Amino acid sequence: MLVLSLLGAAFSSICLATSMAQKVMQTQASISVMETKTVTMDCVYETRESSYYLFWYKQTASGEMVFLIRQDYYKENATEGRYSLNFQKSESSIGLIIRATQIEDSAVYFCAMSEG
Ligand SMILES: *[C@@H]1O[C@H](CO)[C@@H](O)[C@H](O)[C@H]1NC(C)=O
Repeated sequence: MLVLSLLGAAFSSICLATSMAQKVMQTQASISVMETKTVTMDCVYETRESSYYLFWYKQTASGEMVFLIRQDYYKENATEGRYSLNFQKSESSIGLIIRATQIEDSAVYFCAMSEG
């Protein structure tokens, strides 16, 4: 049985134009999951804006950054193939759910936010 290893990291960006700091935080440093199982990666964000967009990316072993899925603030949970999101607006959290995990899912995962 193969075990996948997923690492979490977060993007934090500063929008200088409005002096508004944006923040995303991932609490799990590393998750291991058995191939074919479902895994959830957590991310919480902070914003004072009412309109914002959340993104998940993964960085492959070769260093390539791959866009996975996007959540718009006014929409229902996004789904994209084996990826789906658990968007809890009231808790400011955006969990990435990967089902039927495969070896290629071993990567570093990033969540990111864009405001406005
Ligand atoms: C996303 O799914 C979760 C779990 O089913 C649910 O609690 C949450 O309200 C949903 N959020 C949106 C924005 O659809």
